[in-house]
Amino acid sequence: METMLYDYLTVNEEGRLVIGGVDVRDLAEEFGTPLYVLNEDRVRENCRKYTSAMAKYFREGSMPLYAGKALCFKGIYPVIDSEGLGADVVSPGEAFTALVAGFPAEKLFFHGTNKTDEDIAYGLESGIGYFVIDNMNELAALDREAGEKGIVQKALLRVTVGLDPHTLEAINTGKVDSQFGVPIETGQAEGFLKAALDAENIDVRGFHSHIGSQIMESDSFCDQVDILLGFAADMMEKYGFTAEYFNLGGGFGVRYTEADPLVDIDGNIREISEHLKAGCERTGFPEPKILMEPGRSIVADAGVTLYTAGGIKTVEGYRDYVTVDGGMTDNPRYALYKSEYTVLNASRADAPADFECTIAGRCCESGDRIAENIKIARPERGDLIAVLTTGAYNYAMSMNYNRVTRPAMVMISGGKARLVIRRQTFEDLISCEL
Ligand code: LLP
Repeated sequence: METMLYDYLTVNEEGRLVIGGVDVRDLAEEFGTPLYVLNEDRVRENCRKYTSAMAKYFREGSMPLYAGKALCFKGIYPVIDSEGLGADVVSPGEAFTALVAGFPAEKLFFHGTNKTDEDIAYGLESGIGYFVIDNMNELAALDREAGEKGIVQKALLRVTVGLDPHTLEAINTGKVDSQFGVPIETGQAEGFLKAALDAENIDVRGFHSHIGSQIMESDSFCDQVDILLGFAADMMEKYGFTAEYFNLGGGFGVRYTEADPLVDIDGNIREISEHLKAGCERTGFPEPKILMEPGRSIVADAGVTLYTAGGIKTVEGYRDYVTVDGGMTDNPRYALYKSEYTVLNASRADAPADFECTIAGRCCESGDRIAENIKIARPERGDLIAVLTTGAYNYAMSMNYNRVTRPAMVMISGGKARLVIRRQTFEDLISCEL
């Protein structure tokens, strides 16, 4: 089937899409639409690609950390934990979610460009394993707060390596001119390390940098490793500080449409490791433990969003529109980044995809679109429309604009679906209002 991007998506005899062994009609009948469907088995497979490659190619003690910003809800954390990953949390809210789900605090890495004093206190009180310190002010605040609490806090320093991995501007965070971290190129990262080494209540263990997202090849990561190694070797010579960890951040891309390649995680990690080992030999720097922070590549291709088609309208001389019962409120990525998706008529997945249309959402906003000028099997009102590869940055970025309620989410495992997030109610919409 042309539009099936992944092996767990099949079509049954009635011509309907089947996700991880479950017919979309059954999902829609039991849980309603719009519905986020997350294939837990696929999430686990993706986790294993990282755990096995990193154990094979990197030093002992290396570990993938799941970047919860891609998809954060209680139910994901036991899966991540049982697969042996740590987790990157970018706010106290994400940390809270992981902790209430029983995720071990010592396996959390606390990110955030602007951690407030309250955030810092929360992180320290929760026993979070590592802080990833973004800037000098945060360093001073953390040192002070940790001192008051009698804690010596383990930390990594976030540095910027100044790379442009040719991804979307909006998701490229490794450039020198960015609000994230402290640049190596300008010499400021050296001052940052010096200050951290002088801070009595901070135990610096290494460096973090993140170069971007939706990256398809290892080249940029190899360049990142070179820059980090050069910096770390210099710091070892000048200050006798040997970084135990390099955290390379997240970034491996996924296949949204057939035009995107399937990223070979194992092969890419092998290339990075070969590059690292050669660099260590060249510079005499002892091989560091490697941390990586995959978000998208863990959850994106495990997700499918199901909608019900409503209006199907022709604007004569222009184009055909199919409106669905969700849209930018559950997936703002097209509105924000013009991100492309694979869309299919899940009720007629065996019919030829020959109807060119634009999929629009239900908001009173002309930018509320999911895909433009794509081809699906001609729908009727009531047909189920599936958008593939929506596991990352969809629920996480969802909103209540126009007071549209957030969809429910089900997780599928072993051919069975279970509700993991209930659909928001109207009461939820006013629950904070006094
Ligand atoms: N670590 C750090 C420090 C990050 O900033 C990010 C993503 C990740 C890890 C995870 O990267 P991933 O493996 O998911 O590429 N909302 C955008 C993506 C923004 C990503 C920002 N940082 C989108 O929908 O494409």
